[in-house]
Amino acid sequence: MTNVLEVEDLCVRFAGLDALKDVSLTLAKGQILAVIGPNGAGKTTLFNAISGYVRPTSGQVRLAGENIAGASPHEIARHGIRRTFQNGGLFPALTVLENVLTGLHAQTSGSFLDVILGRSQALDSERAMIARARDLLSLMQMEKMADTPAADLSGGQQRIVEIIRTVASEPPILLLDEPAVGLSPLARDQMMQIIHRLAGETGTGILLIEHAVELVMAGADRILVMAAGQRIAEGTPEEIREDRAVLEAYLGHA
Ligand SMILES: Nc1ncnc2c1ncn2[C@@H]1O[C@H](COP(=O)(O)OP(=O)(O)OP(=O)(O)O)[C@@H](O)[C@H]1O
Ligand SMILES: [Mg+2]
Repeated sequence: MTNVLEVEDLCVRFAGLDALKDVSLTLAKGQILAVIGPNGAGKTTLFNAISGYVRPTSGQVRLAGENIAGASPHEIARHGIRRTFQNGGLFPALTVLENVLTGLHAQTSGSFLDVILGRSQALDSERAMIARARDLLSLMQMEKMADTPAADLSGGQQRIVEIIRTVASEPPILLLDEPAVGLSPLARDQMMQIIHRLAGETGTGILLIEHAVELVMAGADRILVMAAGQRIAEGTPEEIREDRAVLEAYLGHA
């Protein structure tokens, strides 16, 4: 399987605290790797270090063999690592379709000016972008909401649109920090299904931080378990369920 992302011995030190210590992982095309662990385990720090929001003290983040550790968030996004944030922020007054289009515009070389000036190639790509945005919305069963202002969506629907917007440019790698937090159990299951469909149909490799263990046991291909800045286990859900170190350190029993 092709690895889209390789992280090797990544370390982050904050004023004497090892927030991340020698964490390594690989992510394959279309794979969902869940990151679990107690509060303060270093999960968000791992995402920040991969996506450039925190500068790693040492270690590598490799995309197609190229080490991009320490590059700016903008540069890393250009290399194809996209992420969502906990309080994502859609444009509330724009419709769902328009919000998704902002993700596609961020990707294309044709400028808004080209579109305004009616340059034909840009117009064609504008039409193509709208078609692409509609496809993504229907993939996520959100096509009926295309013309609804983002402000009128439920919290869960907003998060789904944010994910669609982030994947609209088909990034090879997507980092989701607790996308299902605060959702009802039913909506959480739907969110996992959507993430699954996304990985399967676009080939995006997904790193997913999620606190609900039963959700990742059912929905992730592999699970990375962290505690106190370190990787304590990594494997399939079945392997993690059986892992003594996980049971002792994380689940609190053996
Ligand atoms: N910018 C920072 N400066 C100093 N310490 C930080 C910073 N960011 C995180 N930390 C510390 O690093 C450790 C790991 O934090 P992190 O936010 O990565 O944990 P987490 O696994 O995401 O936790 P949670 O499940 O609560 O979101 C914690 O002890 C935290 O206090
Ligand atoms: Mg966190």
